[in-house]
Amino acid sequence: MSEFQHIPVMLDEMLHELSPRAGAVYLDGTFGGGGYAKAILDAAPCTMWAIDRDPAAVARGAALAVKYPGRLHLIEGGFGQMLALLQHHGVTALDGVVLDLGVSSFQIDDMSRGFSFRGDGPLDMRMGATGTTAADLVMTLPEAELADTLYRFGEERLSRRIARAIVTARAEAPITTTQRLAEIIRGVMPPSRDGIHPATRSFQALRIRVNDELGEITRGLQAAADLLAPGGRLVVVSFHSLEDRLVKTFFTNMSGRTPAPSRHDPRGHVPRAAPDFRLLTPRARRPGPAELHSNPRARSARLRALERLPAAFETSGQTDGQRGALT
Ligand SMILES: C[S@@+](CC[C@H](N)C(=O)[O-])C[C@H]1O[C@@H](n2cnc3c(N)ncnc32)[C@H](O)[C@@H]1O
Repeated sequence: MSEFQHIPVMLDEMLHELSPRAGAVYLDGTFGGGGYAKAILDAAPCTMWAIDRDPAAVARGAALAVKYPGRLHLIEGGFGQMLALLQHHGVTALDGVVLDLGVSSFQIDDMSRGFSFRGDGPLDMRMGATGTTAADLVMTLPEAELADTLYRFGEERLSRRIARAIVTARAEAPITTTQRLAEIIRGVMPPSRDGIHPATRSFQALRIRVNDELGEITRGLQAAADLLAPGGRLVVVSFHSLEDRLVKTFFTNMSGRTPAPSRHDPRGHVPRAAPDFRLLTPRARRPGPAELHSNPRARSARLRALERLPAAFETSGQTDGQRGALT
C-alpha cells in the first residue's frame, strides 16, 4: 500500500453525468489512483479501458484489475493518443469517456517527482517516464522564452522578473531542485497577500509545458468525440482556467452553440450544420460545500459533460434548435 492517497474529486457528479449502463464500454483517460474507474465499474456491469501516462499509476491499477476480472484493462500512454492506443486493442467506439485533468495527489505528494515546492526533490515534473524535465527547461530556455512560458501557462504577471532571476541564478550554479527554484522565485516576488505561495503559478506553468498538457487536452477532446457512439458521453473535470477554457470552447463548438452569424454578414445567410452533440452542463458544475470542506483539492474543480446525440436524433431531420435543446 502506498503512503499516498488520492481522493477523487466530484465523483458523484461525474457518475451522474456519465450514467454508467450495463454492457457499455468506457474509457478513463486519466486513471490516476483508479477512484473514477472503480466507481464506474461498481455502478454497472460494464467494461473499462483506462489510460495513464504515469507508469506508477498503471502499475497500481494492476491490483484493481484483478478485482474486476476481464472488465478493467490498463494502457500506459497519453490520452491525446487514445485513438491509436485503443485501436491497437481493437476498440473503435466508446459509450463514455472521463478525463480528470492534471496531476494526482500521488504525484504531487511524492517529492521525488518534483511537482511540489512544499518539500525538496529533483526538479522533474514529468508525469510520464520520458521527455524533457522542468530542470532541463529552467537551465536551457532563453530568458524571453522562459518568461513567455511562465506568462502563458501560469498567467504569471511578473514572468519577466522571474525569468531574469532564474537566468542570473543558473549562471552561478545549476538549478536542479524544487527548493532552489522556489527560493529564487520567492526572492524576487512581493509578499503574498492571498496566502498563495509566490512560486505556485511558475510551477504550474513549467508542469504544463513539460507535459504538453494543453496540447494533450486539445487532441484528447477531439479523439474522445470521434470515439463516442450515439448516446455516448464525455465528462471532463478541469482544475484551472486554461484547461477549462479549452473544454468549454470545444463543448460549445461541438454542440453548435457558437453565436449565430450576423444578419449583416455580406455573405448572406450561411446555413449551419446541425450539431451531433448536446451540452449536458450548460454551466460548469462545481463541487458542493461538503466536498469543498473535506477535500481542498476540489476548490477549483469544474465539471462539464457532452453527449453525442442518440442515433434517432441524428436521422430525424429535426431543426438546429430542437437538436441542441437542453434537458
Ligand atoms: C487527477 S488524476 C486522476 C485521478 C483519478 N480520476 C482518480 O479518481 O483516482 C490525473 C491522472 O491523469 C494522468 N494524466 C494527466 N494527463 C494525462 C495525459 N495527457 N495522458 C494520460 N494520463 C494523464 C496523471 O498521470 C494522473 O495520474
